[in-house]
Amino acid sequence: MPQGPSLAPAYSFLRACRSEPISETPIWIMRQAGRYLPEYRAIREKHSFLEVCRTPELCAEVTAQPIERFGFDAAILFSDILIPLIAMGVPIEFDPGPKIGTRIARRGDIAALEWSGPSSVAHVRPVVKAVKDRLHGRVPLIGFAGAPFTLASYLIDANGSKDLMLTRSFLSRDTEGFAELLDLLATATIDYLKEQIAAGVDAVMLFDTQAGWLPPAEFTRSAAAPAERILREIPKSTPTIYFALASSNGQLDAMRAIRADVIGLDYRVSLSQARAILGGSRSVQGNLDPAVLLGPPEQVVTRAEAVLRENGGRPGFIFNLGHGIYPETPVENVELLVSTVKRHRNSAGGVL
Ligand code: CP3
Repeated sequence: MPQGPSLAPAYSFLRACRSEPISETPIWIMRQAGRYLPEYRAIREKHSFLEVCRTPELCAEVTAQPIERFGFDAAILFSDILIPLIAMGVPIEFDPGPKIGTRIARRGDIAALEWSGPSSVAHVRPVVKAVKDRLHGRVPLIGFAGAPFTLASYLIDANGSKDLMLTRSFLSRDTEGFAELLDLLATATIDYLKEQIAAGVDAVMLFDTQAGWLPPAEFTRSAAAPAERILREIPKSTPTIYFALASSNGQLDAMRAIRADVIGLDYRVSLSQARAILGGSRSVQGNLDPAVLLGPPEQVVTRAEAVLRENGGRPGFIFNLGHGIYPETPVENVELLVSTVKRHRNSAGGVL
């Protein structure tokens, strides 16, 4: 068993990020620590969501729960993409979805946001250190942040429309003001991710969950470009993942300009078509429809095998869902998913 805080490059997840050929397919799933797990619900009965995110022992416990139960190949820091916004002075409550207390309606409102550097997220270092200690080198730890466009959409549409009407109209009405907001959010995100890396996370993921609402040209300008500004600042030794719920070919094409090692694919795109658009050398992560995990079990096996077959044994593949796991998911189906993926072997150029 590997020891210590810095990881040897042998972990299948890290090797897949670098597109190295490996016979196994690493698996982890978005929202793997969450309400579908009884041990998570037990902790949440006693502690609020934010308390769990900020208290080192609680965060370590919850982050490790899915690793210990299922044997996933990577852990993801238990936190939320909106935490840095709280540090910028935005009141946010989780119930369980976020309720945002301020709204950015026009350029002048941006001045109310304050970012005073890494000290604004002082909980990060002790929390990450506790998580790393708890994982004890068993698996790599993924840190993460929301990408600037997605954070901006939470501030502008705050608990609002389902298709980001307010965000898209702000962007069209005041492109410069929107760019100013993106710039501030990118600066904060760079500090936030650098804190996570300094404290020991082994890879970082940018969630651009809302970017798929943008037409391709706006996606390039207002989602891909600020994400790229952040990714440029991440040391080369830390693998990066960019994930957007983006299902049009135009949006995928716009992602070619993003320098992430791995592109996360949502469940509405074809893995093989996405690979063709993104180009051969790019690692991809995804993309089983999380609804399949609601059952029946035979479908879990069939559909997971279909994803593996669609990848066709190519290196640079990390098995994941195409979006977060639903709280209603039976844990038995997650066990079945993991055993299906772990049984599978890749060989150079094909599937064994
Ligand atoms: O993946 C993981 O296990 C790590 C933890 C994680 C959470 N949120 C925990 C969480 C991660 C990576 C996120 C990211 C996040 N948060 C995103 C991007 C990914 C995505 O799902 O699209 C977004 C858009 C958010 C904002 C957010 N926070 C939403 C929409 C919700 C409600 C989710 C729900 O299931 O109802 C939250 C709250 C939240 N974040 C919960 C969890 C486990 C539920 C809180 C609870 O336990 O009561």
